[in-house]
Amino acid sequence: MKRSLVFATGNQHKLEEVQGLLGKDFALSCLREVGITEEIPETALTLHENALQKAQYVFEKCGCACFADDTGLEIEALNGEPGVFSARYAGSQKDSVANMQLVIEKLQGVANRKAQFRTVIAYIDAAGNETLFEGKVEGKIIDTPTGVQGFGYDPIFVPDGYVKTFAELPMEVKNSMSHRGRAIQKLVDFLNT
Ligand code: IMP
Repeated sequence: MKRSLVFATGNQHKLEEVQGLLGKDFALSCLREVGITEEIPETALTLHENALQKAQYVFEKCGCACFADDTGLEIEALNGEPGVFSARYAGSQKDSVANMQLVIEKLQGVANRKAQFRTVIAYIDAAGNETLFEGKVEGKIIDTPTGVQGFGYDPIFVPDGYVKTFAELPMEVKNSMSHRGRAIQKLVDFLNT
């Protein structure tokens, strides 16, 4: 029998990506499928707390095994900004062009371009036990957005070992090394042991 698992997302693309990684033994449901249509609060100040807050919200509503993720871009010279505020760095409209522009402005004249994407996944099993997983990818920020693939900060992030941005690399290449891919793989390994 398949193991049921709720993923705290409304993003169909993420759902399919994770279902593909989990394989046929797992039946993944999104929020809508378990009757959660409201926006889940994300008010914490760290990725760990935000991921846990979302997973706990789902667990309280459906009482079943579930997980949530939270991701941030952390720039060394900006003391880890935008971090947990990555989606709304330049304002509540969540405009990724404005977000990238703000990063570029703040890094003007700054030589240290080191940055990382970090994803935290909070998993709660059917008995209510919580486990956290983390994945990250290091790279650098460039001044000119380049490439059309992906989303968010992809056009200004060049992963270490590459000369192209995430937005120029094929999706399979990004997924194979990405923060989210790595965190999900840790969850998959945990669920399969
Ligand atoms: P979320 O937690 O996955 O919703 O991500 C929060 C924000 O981080 C997004 O709105 C994007 O701005 C940024 N972000 C997350 N993942 C990526 C990525 O893979 N590439 C570029 N930006 C990302």
